[in-house]
Amino acid sequence: MTPVRARAPGRVNLIGDHTDYSGGLVLPMAIDLETVVSGDRGGEVVSLESGDEKRRAEVPLDVEDPGAVEPRWARYVAGVVAMLRPPAGLRGEVVTTLPVGAGLSSSAALEVAVALALGFVGTTLELARMCQAAEQVASGVPCGIMDQLASAAGVEGHALRIDCTTMAVDPVPLPEGVDVVVVHSGLPRNLGGTAYGERRRECSAVEERIGPLRDATVEDAEGLDDLVLRRRARHVVTENERVGRFAAALAGGRLDELGPLMAASHASLRDDFEVSTPVLDELVARLQSTPGVLGARLTGAGFGGCAVAIARSGTELPGWRVRAAAGASVS
Ligand code: GLA
Repeated sequence: MTPVRARAPGRVNLIGDHTDYSGGLVLPMAIDLETVVSGDRGGEVVSLESGDEKRRAEVPLDVEDPGAVEPRWARYVAGVVAMLRPPAGLRGEVVTTLPVGAGLSSSAALEVAVALALGFVGTTLELARMCQAAEQVASGVPCGIMDQLASAAGVEGHALRIDCTTMAVDPVPLPEGVDVVVVHSGLPRNLGGTAYGERRRECSAVEERIGPLRDATVEDAEGLDDLVLRRRARHVVTENERVGRFAAALAGGRLDELGPLMAASHASLRDDFEVSTPVLDELVARLQSTPGVLGARLTGAGFGGCAVAIARSGTELPGWRVRAAAGASVS
């Protein structure tokens, strides 16, 4: 038996949502809320208990259908086992400071920590790709790579500008004097029951007509006959543009540019991509009008979950004040 301890952070996305799966730009940061998997390597089973869950995960190394494993949280463990096929199991525990199902990528953090605890060897990109595949088989949701890559590749004090075509990850320093605050809408977020898959299919339908969304212009989007596809395309094209401008403004310390870009991103996700909810809209509006808040928007997939605000340091807000943390590690 070999003792092992792996940690992996959750993430919050500052801007660039529903752009990763069409090769676009995103700007997440790994956060100082994280999941730790510790135990002893060996045996034929991955057996983990979690303080937050009643039943332990018991996953045989030859697990066949991760999406059917019970209890549900064990599916993410099973997804990693199925993708990695480690030579030995693990007996131990999972401890997390991440709120589960809030949209802060608790499942990506669990996958990345489990993969490292099971002895994954490779680059952060390979780790993220494997965990993305694990998430897809576990949840049935055709997620992009942002969450797993942010957890694997985080850099302390920095957001990550990720180009999901070239997979280049460029750390962007967060300016002094601002806080990043994540506020829960109170609505649980379960992508399995949402239109996430439908949005992905709509983006593919757009690409069949006008080619890669990453290279498309607003004019290309406006030229689509189908009004729904036109809106979806317009969101992706304009959101990619906003990520570039937001990253440049952050790096240059031009704080006054952040709010309008975040507001435009939220409006685009609400009106063109249609992934917001009235509760999220109200929360974002409330945050935007709070003194000290520079900008706010929904973050992640939408359909419930959280909003993210960037505020002057010390602004009182009812949420998690998060710091940009280093990516996953194992010891
Ligand atoms: C979820 C997915 C990501 C990404 C976001 C939306 O978090 O897991 O890949 O698509 O939604 O930006």
